Amino acid sequence: MATVQEPTAIDTDKLMSFVFRAVDEVGATINTALVVMGDKLGLYKALAGAGPLSPAELAERTGISERYAQEWLNAQAAGGYVEYDPDSGRYVLPPEQAVAMTDEASPAYLPGFFQIALGTVIDSPRITEAAKTGAGIGWHDHVGDVHEGCERFFRPGYNAHLVAEWLPALDGVVAKLQSGARVADVGCGHGASTVLMAQAYPASTFVGYDYHDASIETAKQRAGAAGVEDRVRFQVSPAASFPGAGYDLVTMFDCLHDMGDPLGAARHVRESLAPDGTWMIVEPAAGDRVEDNLNPVGRAYYGFSTLLCTPSSLAQEVGLALGAQAGEARIPAIATGAGFSSFRRVEGTPFNTVFEARP
Ligand SMILES: C[S@@+](CC[C@H](N)C(=O)[O-])C[C@H]1O[C@@H](n2cnc3c(N)ncnc32)[C@H](O)[C@@H]1O
Repeated sequence: MATVQEPTAIDTDKLMSFVFRAVDEVGATINTALVVMGDKLGLYKALAGAGPLSPAELAERTGISERYAQEWLNAQAAGGYVEYDPDSGRYVLPPEQAVAMTDEASPAYLPGFFQIALGTVIDSPRITEAAKTGAGIGWHDHVGDVHEGCERFFRPGYNAHLVAEWLPALDGVVAKLQSGARVADVGCGHGASTVLMAQAYPASTFVGYDYHDASIETAKQRAGAAGVEDRVRFQVSPAASFPGAGYDLVTMFDCLHDMGDPLGAARHVRESLAPDGTWMIVEPAAGDRVEDNLNPVGRAYYGFSTLLCTPSSLAQEVGLALGAQAGEARIPAIATGAGFSSFRRVEGTPFNTVFEARP
């Protein structure tokens, strides 16, 4: 006999507070496009350090239409990104926001985070379709804002931590880099990490590998612009079969979980390393249990994982789909499965965890 479900009492206050929270989230979603607009049109840069500006003054300094400037400023004021003074009708970008929105050298720099988010959302209808069948969508198959946003999102963190903290945390690696080491940066994307390491260690040679040919082309341009092309090469290659052997250091920055076959890649890294070499793995910070990741960083990462990382892995052979919140227990299992004899967590930030594996 079918049981009759008692109607659940609805708490109207809770319902309305959820609705108003959602209104804020819709505003935040739209703000992703507004931030990228402000970044691409130079609006934040024009506001930074300029003191209070009227829409006409902002429009004049950036060459955009005054009406758009006015509406954009109002949206930024409503979101707390700029401050509005009703008496003068002018808007100001507070100094802290100016750092976050314009200072590419600051670890707090944000526009890249918004750019990768916007590109991800633009591509989301294809993920909605793919979810019906379990098909993948490769990293190469996304709009350019995903690739460039990724580079611009990660670079400030690498600038702040890679040379100062992460490499020194690895056993004996800095001494090798200083005297001249051979390094492969696998899944290098636009080569932000590769170029940074090459700038810091002029006696060493670096090769960046990525399966995405357009990313490799951009990485070559970045090396040229940084003046390190004499010691940095970039080459299209999948992680499971990149050329060369006897590497002192193989690095993977935020890409192991994007790969279809991370175990196959790990086996290949082990074969390509010198006997006393090091595999450095940088992965998104994550706890092992879902409940450990139910926080703002976990929310952003689960979102990117659903729309970027999981589809990327599913598009490749094996399709293990670790996800961006795989947690610290699953990564050592891959290293151990590939035959690495030692593995340890060496460093971390609220966004990244750094691991060391030795043959
Ligand atoms: C999230 S991006 C990170 C890029 C770069 N390491 C960084 O930190 O800016 C992931 C990168 O992994 C690359 N990738 C994914 N699967 C790969 C594979 N099987 N072999 C080589 N590269 C791969 C993608 O093309 C992409 O450039």
